[in-house]
Amino acid sequence: MYSLVIFGPPGSGKGTQSEKLIEKYGLTHLSTGDVLRAEIKSGSELGNQIKSLIEKGELVSDEMVQEMVKAFVMKNKDAKGFIFDGFPRTVAQAQWLDNMLSEISTSVNIMISLDVPDDELRIRLLSRGKVSGRQDDQDEAIINNRIDVYKNTTLPVMEYYQKAGKAKGIHGLGTIDEIFGRITEAVAL
Ligand code: AP5
Ligand code: MG
Repeated sequence: MYSLVIFGPPGSGKGTQSEKLIEKYGLTHLSTGDVLRAEIKSGSELGNQIKSLIEKGELVSDEMVQEMVKAFVMKNKDAKGFIFDGFPRTVAQAQWLDNMLSEISTSVNIMISLDVPDDELRIRLLSRGKVSGRQDDQDEAIINNRIDVYKNTTLPVMEYYQKAGKAKGIHGLGTIDEIFGRITEAVAL
């Protein structure tokens, strides 16, 4: 099993690059943001709680996300490997992921961190907000809060993987194919 964490601030291209990684390496993709948005769409009580957090640009609780990740991994134990997109987002989630994967005798092989300046993130997200219907892309104050949450709470996850010798920083500006080229060089599978 080969598992990859794709990491970076909101709008850095995690989802976009994941699509290309799935195609090239046949890995199984898990975007916690997508799973949470599907829960919102289902109209459940849990979905309503999640909605109020996402619409403010705040994180959902570690426990809730971890439960979703565990269910997904256990359902896909025969996968060639996973792409974790938007997870882990806290150091506690990163530690939990290591423990959970060790239970099935595997681990995170590499963490790809997309580096994109804040101004570019705001441009990308506001422009997607005009067409995507994602509430959290439509208001600059919410986007700024997502960027702040990333810096304050999520960035320490990078250090966690740096210490493990698994973090690879990737310059995240350029065409989608240029960035993908940089990622495949780092992955070297
Ligand atoms: P999530 O869905 O993960 O959103 P995000 O991290 O804010 O990032 P995005 O998905 O918006 O951006 P992306 O990096 O995938 O970029 P994309 O490829 O789409 O999380 C949403 C919310 O869910 C969180 O705020 C939180 O509340 C909750 N949540 C999720 N996971 C959680 C967790 N683990 N713990 C707790 N809460 C959690 O690209 C963005 C745009 O840019 C697109 O329009 C794209 O076309 C464009 N673009 C991509 N690449 C380029 C390029 N090279 N040049 C120009 N434009 C580009
Ligand atoms: Mg995404």
